[in-house]
Amino acid sequence: MMKTVEQVKHYHIRRMADGDIPQALEIDLDAFPNQWPHPSASSFHHELRNKLAHYIVVCEDGIPENGGNGQSVTGLKEIALYIRQLFSHDRFFRAGKTVQSREYLAGMAGIWMMVDEAHIVTIAVRTTRKNLGLGEWLLINIIELAQQLRAKYVTLEVRVSNKTAQALYEKYGFATAGTRRKYYSDNGEDALIMTTCELDSPPYQATLQSLKDEHRNRCSRCYP
Ligand SMILES: CC(C)(COP(=O)(O)OP(=O)(O)OC[C@H]1O[C@@H](n2cnc3c(N)ncnc32)[C@H](O)[C@@H]1OP(=O)(O)O)[C@@H](O)C(=O)NCCC(=O)NCCS
Repeated sequence: MMKTVEQVKHYHIRRMADGDIPQALEIDLDAFPNQWPHPSASSFHHELRNKLAHYIVVCEDGIPENGGNGQSVTGLKEIALYIRQLFSHDRFFRAGKTVQSREYLAGMAGIWMMVDEAHIVTIAVRTTRKNLGLGEWLLINIIELAQQLRAKYVTLEVRVSNKTAQALYEKYGFATAGTRRKYYSDNGEDALIMTTCELDSPPYQATLQSLKDEHRNRCSRCYP
């Protein structure tokens, strides 16, 4: 599944910061083009201050401010984002309250801690950075973060039609625990509820470790 990239880039993962919000909005638009409504800059701004919410981003190393991906910042998606920004009722978005991150973000993921459960609220990789192992790396980091935060399980909802994401989750031991009928308001699609077994159980830890080892072997660009 993973492709080799002509120009090998290296990546690192860190916590999301306010300066990442414009790119987080871009990634969200790119990854979930048909979803409605999309999160606003204000909602990300609040999320980053919500003690129960935890967001991470995967960044390209050594990338200049313009994204450095050979694309100008005047692509159609960027123009759409700019127009949204211009006419937005979102005060945070319009006010340009924060300095934008200089790093190019390839993807992001977030969880909400709900008692002993970490609930994945988003995981997304830019279209141009798919199939490089970055979605998997985000998931590994989210599971590890959930463990550090003392979660017993990781859960999520996924569209029944989203076989790509389901394959990723199944690989990491998520099993279908139920269905939420007509969960998605944009098209009335059902959601599968998927959950891990107990994170600290020895079988899960063994599986996770071998998947991490395999990922490390296949994705050297993720590890210094
Ligand atoms: C789901 C998503 C995050 C995967 O990210 P990615 O970086 O492209 O995936 P990776 O390269 O890390 O692949 C990891 C695993 O995902 C699954 N996968 C990835 N692309 C796939 C595809 N086209 N078809 C089937 N499975 C696929 C496989 O299990 C793969 O493991 P493998 O290489 O051992 O087969 C990405 O496709 C995405 O952002 N999709 C849009 C947003 C989305 O649907 N998010 C999930 C919401 S619940």
